[in-house]
This record gives sequence, C-alpha cells and structure tokens, in this order.
Amino acid sequence: MKAAVMSLGSKSSLMILEAMKNYFDSVDNIDLRDVEVNLGAGKLDVLYEGNQLPQYSCIYARGSFRYAPLLRSVTRTLYRNSYMPIRAETFTLGHDKLLTHLVLQHFSIPMPATYLASSTRAAKKILNEVTYPIVLKFPHGTGGKGVMFAESYAAASSMLDALIVLKQPFLIQEYIETGGVDIRALIAGDRVVASMRRKAVKGEMRANIHAGGSGESVVLDERTKRIAIDTAASIGADVCAVDMLESGKGPLVIEVNLSPGLQGITKATGINVSDKIAKYLFERSEIFSARDRDEATLKIFEDLGLSGEMAQQIITNLDFRANRILLPKIVTDISKFGEKDEVVLKVEKGKLVVERV
Ligand SMILES: Nc1ncnc2c1ncn2[C@@H]1O[C@H](COP(=O)(O)OP(=O)(O)O)[C@@H](O)[C@H]1O
Ligand SMILES: [Mg+2]
Repeated sequence: MKAAVMSLGSKSSLMILEAMKNYFDSVDNIDLRDVEVNLGAGKLDVLYEGNQLPQYSCIYARGSFRYAPLLRSVTRTLYRNSYMPIRAETFTLGHDKLLTHLVLQHFSIPMPATYLASSTRAAKKILNEVTYPIVLKFPHGTGGKGVMFAESYAAASSMLDALIVLKQPFLIQEYIETGGVDIRALIAGDRVVASMRRKAVKGEMRANIHAGGSGESVVLDERTKRIAIDTAASIGADVCAVDMLESGKGPLVIEVNLSPGLQGITKATGINVSDKIAKYLFERSEIFSARDRDEATLKIFEDLGLSGEMAQQIITNLDFRANRILLPKIVTDISKFGEKDEVVLKVEKGKLVVERV
C-alpha cells in the first residue's frame, strides 16, 4: 500500500512519515505549499507541483490554521479514494477555537464557560458579569500565543479595547484554576496512545511546551480518557491531541490540535508516539482498501443477480456528513429501500438496524 504525508514538513510530520515507512510499501512526502485545488463545474482536482496525485491508500494531511481551507479542499476532493484520518470540515472546526467549542457544546462535552461578543458593548456587558480572573483568547492562536489572562474588569476592559482597535476577534473564557497545569491526550481512533501533564514554567500561566512548559507522563482515569476520545470523535479527527484542564468538576476540554507536535509528548512519556500513529493509519487504510474491494465484489454479485435475498456484510468505515451517517450506495441497492419507505431505526451504542415497517 502506498501512503503520503501532506504537510509543511515539520519535525513531527517527518517523524510520522518515517514511522509509516515501517508499515506501508512507500510513503511520499508532499509539501502542502506546492498543492493546488482546481475547482470548476463538474471538476475537482488536486494537483501537486502541477501534476495529478497517484492513487494512495492513505493520505495524512497536516498543517497550520492558515492552510485550513486548503486542507479542507484537498480532503473533500480525495477522501473517497484514500483513507484520510481527518474529515474535510474538521480542518475548519479544529483550527478555530470558537467553532471547536460549538461542536463540544453540541455533543455535551465538558468545557469552560466560553463567550463570544460581536460588539464592544456586548463584550463589556459580559466583562461586567463574569467572575475574575478571566481568559481572552484568539480563535486561531497556538502554542499559547493567543491566550491572555485578565485579573480584573479594569485589565480585561483595556485588553478588549486594544483587541477591538486591532480588529482581532477573540473569545472570553472562564478561568480554570489549575496552577498552570494542563493535560494533553494524544488520540488515535478510540484510544489514548499517550498522555502528559504539562506544567507552566514559573511565573507563567500557560502550560504549552512552546511557552516553556514541561511535560510529564500521566495515567488518565477512565472518565478523562472517554472525554478525550469523545472529543476527537465529535470533531471528526481520528488522529489529534486534546487539551484539557482539570477542574473541581472534572476535566474540561479547551482545545483540539489537528497537527500536534510529537517531540514533547514522546520525550515526556517515553512512548513511541509516531509509531502508534503510523500503525493506526496502516490498520485503518487496510480496512479502507478492503471496503473498496468488498464494494467491487458486491457489485459483481449484484450484476450476476445474486444479491437478491442474500444478507450481505460490508466492512467499511462510516462516512459522516455534518455528523450524519451517509451509507454507501450499495446498501441502497441491496436493501432496495426507497425514499418513501417507512422504516424502524433500532439504535443502540455500536449498533444500528434499519427495517422496513
Ligand atoms: N480557561 C482557561 N483557564 C486557565 N488556563 C487556561 C485556560 N485556557 C487556556 N489556559 C492555559 O493556556 C494554555 C493555552 O491554551 P489553549 O486554549 O490550549 O491555546 P493554544 O492553542 O495556544 O495552546 C493552556 O494549555 C492552559 O495552560
Ligand atoms: Mg493548547
């Protein structure tokens, strides 16, 4: 199987690329800066250095928020033919903290109270009502750089004026007292592959490694693991990092990172994180390729008129559109369901049965 890492060539992207070579037959290194997406009526193409991409079983696309529209377009174009661990729309959601919080809210995932204000008047009203300290955040910040703490109304109000003059969008967030500590969980599918507790350097409140924080391995309790895994699933990322704050009410999610740095967490935990991710990508790609084969086989059966009353099993991964499941066309063909059919949906965790009434 052929795979590709499409990225800006960060150390972490290259670590995963190297690890993937232990599983895939070949792994291409695609520089995101040389990728273009061509759109037109009935046309949707991804070109790399002006050429069509070969067929890959897996494409792992990573990049910073500036590339979110490109990553989304590339994924929208290629996801049918290659396993891609991050859904197209996830790039937009995950690179914007406000949109991330909207998804978390929708899926009842615990998070700090977060406010968005559209005008100075509305923002000042919020500042009058909250308890201090509070946090002001840029929706696109990373590495702790867009996070500010205000101890009082006076401090928050002057920061807000500056943000408005600079036309810089921001969120207002409840401050969670953790002594400058946060938790980062690295997720692959439905598993936490590594987790660390990060502690801010003395005199600093942001725990990011880039802000001088230090990481140490931590064993997460089941509830924290579940929240991290649910967060990844809700946002539509099979591979990502989830940042959480430990509050009196339990873990609160503050961020999802779609292109997490791996050096810090590898060093802190001693876990070969890139190998875990590479192995996961390989396993998912195998299932993805099998799906293609199965669909092709079923098509042959069908063409031979053999599928009529036969119960078919299709191994596939689910195709989600805006959190709704889209089933493969072959399912419609075999089930012979029509749009006007009345059906019963029997749903429980991990199982879905659709039956004509
Ligand atoms: N609501 C909050 N209360 C207390 N500390 C916070 C809060 N939000 C963020 N922080 C601190 O700031 C750091 C960076 O915040 P985060 O939202 O993860 O942004 P970034 O994308 O810059 O990493 C966190 O790791 C944490 O230490
Ligand atoms: Mg963070």
